[in-house]
Amino acid sequence: MQTYAFLLGTHPTLSLAELMSFLINQKITHNDPVLFDSIVVIEIKKTPEEVAQLQSELGGIIKTFSIIKQFSGKIFEVEKILTPEILLKQFFAQKNQKINFGISVYSDPDPTYAELNWLTNFAHNIKRRLKDEYSIRYVEDRGWHLSSVQVERNRLIDTGAEIALIRNGHDFYLGKTLTVQDYKSYSERDWDKPSPDAKSGMLPPKLAQMMINLTRDKRTKTIYDPFCGSGIVLQEAMMLGLKVYGSDISPEAVKNTISNLEWLAKLKKIAAGKIGLRVKVADATQNDWKTLDSPDTVIVAEPYLGPALRMAPFAPQAQTILNELTKLYLGFFRNLNQHFPHIKRVGVVFPVIRSRDGLKYLNILDEVASLGYTRKLILPAEIIKKDAGVSPRGGFLYSRPDQLVLREIFVFEKQ
Ligand SMILES: C[S@@+](CC[C@H](N)C(=O)[O-])C[C@H]1O[C@@H](n2cnc3c(N)ncnc32)[C@H](O)[C@@H]1O
Repeated sequence: MQTYAFLLGTHPTLSLAELMSFLINQKITHNDPVLFDSIVVIEIKKTPEEVAQLQSELGGIIKTFSIIKQFSGKIFEVEKILTPEILLKQFFAQKNQKINFGISVYSDPDPTYAELNWLTNFAHNIKRRLKDEYSIRYVEDRGWHLSSVQVERNRLIDTGAEIALIRNGHDFYLGKTLTVQDYKSYSERDWDKPSPDAKSGMLPPKLAQMMINLTRDKRTKTIYDPFCGSGIVLQEAMMLGLKVYGSDISPEAVKNTISNLEWLAKLKKIAAGKIGLRVKVADATQNDWKTLDSPDTVIVAEPYLGPALRMAPFAPQAQTILNELTKLYLGFFRNLNQHFPHIKRVGVVFPVIRSRDGLKYLNILDEVASLGYTRKLILPAEIIKKDAGVSPRGGFLYSRPDQLVLREIFVFEKQ
């Protein structure tokens, strides 16, 4: 086992759930995670090269670190460990050309001004001690840590190192960054596709990827999205090497999905076959698709979340919208139960309306359970309970602070 740390995304509990589901579902041996701030430290039975490969499959992970040393005490101990010899041998990726390095601190509690000052001086000292023999540059930032963009633009990973100093109370983990999230590729998938659908709202690709990882397991071969919209879930499933099927009540949406998937297959050179045969017009409350009714298929979907709202509605108005949506959601689950009884997992977004009297939820969990779909608990209750990113009933919340319709994410298992 080797120790790794992961920097979690903007919705840390959801990102942690994605990571743990991924490790469990892919049967990767690991120990219990230690979680603090936005960092999770975990031992995994994989080499750093293998762990680096996982980054592109995890929408909720911003950076992956390999931990080289652990110690307890004060930040100043770093000086004894990071000698020029150790840096050259264990941290810097190469020393024949210019070495670029930076230091990022992830700390709970926050570092003091004196600690940060000391660390900056320490980094300048490293440079001073090595500069006669090596061409070396220290990439400095005014904050405590470098962004993924800074790491990438300064080529820290392949020309030197982003040294990561991670503190949890008195425990320190000293390591280096293995990978940062490929923000350019997500943005390309989000913004460059030929047929976007701003009207129905676009699911962020990272969230689509997280939902797929929360829902799939090792035997999953196919993702089916019966509310495919412009095809974002299916795009991300295709990127993960899964077979994709979609349907939507709107012919326009089906056209958009096909054009977006064909574009992505071409761009990423994915052998996707005849996409047009796997995306069709269908009502998710009535459709039947025999070939998809298998335990190898999982459903991942963001159904219609209701009308776009300009102002927070009063509670009765919010309830009227939710009553309408209840018909669609229950119709979808009833149809699943009737026509897709062998599909065992369903990852789905529920709408939550920010009314003037607080958040209003879609109250269908009991009916969904009576159809045999029970909620899969992904993280231990102690983690879930104290997190603001989780709804009172345990769904993962995903939203921006100003959003009037929030997303609540559940994974259901068919008993
Ligand atoms: C929020 S959008 C889905 C967005 C999609 N996840 C994406 O990222 O592009 C909801 C979609 O549900 C479709 N829809 C609404 N009612 C439906 C129904 N009864 N059956 C199938 N699709 C439906 C709409 O046409 C719309 O494309």
